[in-house]
Amino acid sequence: MSFSRKVVLTLSENKLIKSFITKHGMKLGASRFVPGETLEEAIEAVKKLNAEGLVATLDHLGEFVNTREEALASTEEILKIFDGIRSSGIKSGVSVKLTSIGLDIDKEFCFENMDRITAKAKETGCFVRIDMEDSPRIDATIEIHNRLLEKYGKEHIGLVIQSYLYRSEEDVIELGKKGVSLRIVKGAYKEPASVAYPDKTDVDRNFVKLCQIHLKNGCYTAIATHDENIINEMKAWIRENNIPDNLFEFQMLYGVRNGLQRRLVSEGYKVRVYTPFGKDWYGFFTRRIAERPANALFVLKNLFKQ
Ligand code: FDA
Repeated sequence: MSFSRKVVLTLSENKLIKSFITKHGMKLGASRFVPGETLEEAIEAVKKLNAEGLVATLDHLGEFVNTREEALASTEEILKIFDGIRSSGIKSGVSVKLTSIGLDIDKEFCFENMDRITAKAKETGCFVRIDMEDSPRIDATIEIHNRLLEKYGKEHIGLVIQSYLYRSEEDVIELGKKGVSLRIVKGAYKEPASVAYPDKTDVDRNFVKLCQIHLKNGCYTAIATHDENIINEMKAWIRENNIPDNLFEFQMLYGVRNGLQRRLVSEGYKVRVYTPFGKDWYGFFTRRIAERPANALFVLKNLFKQ
């Protein structure tokens, strides 16, 4: 992990910084990455994306909740997204972080909440993907996913794998045996060198390798990166290996590399935009700043404009 990234992720844990950014963050630029705090605002944003040929995945922001009340409230908010998708007719799936629905409280309680969410996805003909969080939570996340996969099928539930982890290649191979739909990402959390490649070139190389393994195994792969070199490499590899269009899509975050997103659509690729909404945007926003020092400059510029 780069020094600047480690510094931003460490600073983001500071209570004073958190309270300042939470108070002023939307004005400081969080709205570039989070189109709104309500489902209605998020649906409006997705309608605009759809009009430009992009599809979406909606994420009700929230993570690391530690009371049952908060986890149940978060589950209810996520359930409402499926009704919103159905009634508005937007083209979107849903993404969920298990710590927002109780993973840190009790695994079985979290499973029950995710079971309700996946049942709702199936009932509404929708798809839900479980985001991957930091490394101590991976085994539990995979276990919950696999139980729900058996119950609801890969058309309705999928998972995320992070290329910065040494273990991921084995995970991709195992999940491939079950035909799981995977989103491959580089990984956004602060991880020690004992579990994750410290060198970015290894993370990048592993990203391409994991995507290729999963596609070669005939499994649906969401190639989730803003890295244009990797996207070009994957496009060429997909052509050379005759990978069918219905086996993959590109995914990017709302507000990041907008031009590239639209260019891929104009070339005929499927592109899904991860569109988060809600009041609890702090962790998501600070990870976006950590990924790119220029985003911190963007926040500072907005601060001086106030
Ligand atoms: P990289 O960081 O190498 O950046 C390549 C280029 O992309 C940069 O040079 C810049 O041009 C652009 N870029 C990247 N990040 C940017 C930013 N924040 N702002 C502006 N430009 C930026 N992680 C995780 O641990 N669990 C998860 O479940 C998910 N889910 C997820 C879904 C989707 C759809 C995406 C795109 C990403 C995630 N991530 C994630 C985050 C992921 O792990 C990773 O941190 C970011 O995607 C940044 O890495 P890149 O692959 O974009 O490349």
